[in-house]
Amino acid sequence: MPATLSDLETPALVVDLDRLERNLDRAAEYVRAHGLALRPHVKTHKTPWIAAEQLRRGAVGLTCATPREAEAMSEVGRDLLVAYPPVGAARARRLVALPESVRLTVGLDSATAVDLLAASARAADRPVHVLVEMDMGMRRVGVAGVEEAIALARRVAASPPLEYAGVMFYPGHVREAVTEQEASLAALRQAVHAALAALERAGLRAGVVSGGSTPTLWRSHEVPGVTEIRPGTYVFNDRTTAEVGACAWDDVALTVIATVVSTAVAGQAVIDAGTKALGREPLRGSGGEGYGALLDHPEVAVTQMSEEHGMLDLSRTSWRPEVGDVVRVVPNHVCVAVHLADAMHGVRGDTIERSWPVAARGRARVELDAPAEAAT
Ligand SMILES: Cc1ncc(COP(=O)(O)O)c(C=O)c1O
Repeated sequence: MPATLSDLETPALVVDLDRLERNLDRAAEYVRAHGLALRPHVKTHKTPWIAAEQLRRGAVGLTCATPREAEAMSEVGRDLLVAYPPVGAARARRLVALPESVRLTVGLDSATAVDLLAASARAADRPVHVLVEMDMGMRRVGVAGVEEAIALARRVAASPPLEYAGVMFYPGHVREAVTEQEASLAALRQAVHAALAALERAGLRAGVVSGGSTPTLWRSHEVPGVTEIRPGTYVFNDRTTAEVGACAWDDVALTVIATVVSTAVAGQAVIDAGTKALGREPLRGSGGEGYGALLDHPEVAVTQMSEEHGMLDLSRTSWRPEVGDVVRVVPNHVCVAVHLADAMHGVRGDTIERSWPVAARGRARVELDAPAEAAT
């Protein structure tokens, strides 16, 4: 059993537990100060014990994307939002088969999804709360106009055991630096206000208005009407989050530790973390280069990769690593790096305090009677 960082085989995911706790506390304090509910998205950590820590700090429930995440989180959470269209009979059946102890809410944006979910819920004889998803600028999912939202909400209300609970949106299009989000937030404010007013006039007041993201986390209160937020990335943060100023570099809690395996080619060092450890994720927002950067040398980016090789560009540093050195890489997009790993290791200093499997990764059913945390 690895006891210290130097015992770990690389590449490996390492979580700085002090930073993780600080990140969890900061978000919990922020929502308390602003009268918002926090329903964090678990896609970032996919880990029941971190979800339990979020709930212990006052999160009202959890947000999931996949049926597997919902199954894994049902071990610790009694109030789950599946913020992904419940389309496909197998997916809908799997959602309504979640333990009955779970209060289940699902976000959707089509009549097809309403009808399918209603049929599945009826067959399983379970109530399912529904949020009508609206597009507030991201252009991914969500109905475009309020008339469509009203029609869907009416359809939900007429399809017991579904219950209309409100609306949701994801402001994933707001990727400017935190200090430069004014115009985007003004547009969001206006769109949310117009939608809520129209729903109210139609007799479909939205009890829940679910929004929020990590880049906009600290400005969530500037969109009146929003009742709950669903940031995910904030638990660990990543290079993109730091780049937009939604966290400081010192708030990055997860790194991929990697070993320098070659310095044979001048001007670069090669580490054992490539696309299968970091993912090939762009640095969103700024258009900056590379797929990750070193925690201790942020000017050094992983600029090229193959599956098991990551090339560190040394052109902007006088630092010269040696073969065998271990480095800490901050991935551009931490959620993808987590999804690619089997386990994470929580450290204070160099000591590994706990290790855990990434329980909700993958697609297959989680064995619900397996221990949430099989210590590795
Ligand atoms: C529907 C939905 N809600 C919440 C989130 C969490 O946002 P973030 O990654 O900015 O923390 C995501 C992220 O992809 C999402 O798709």
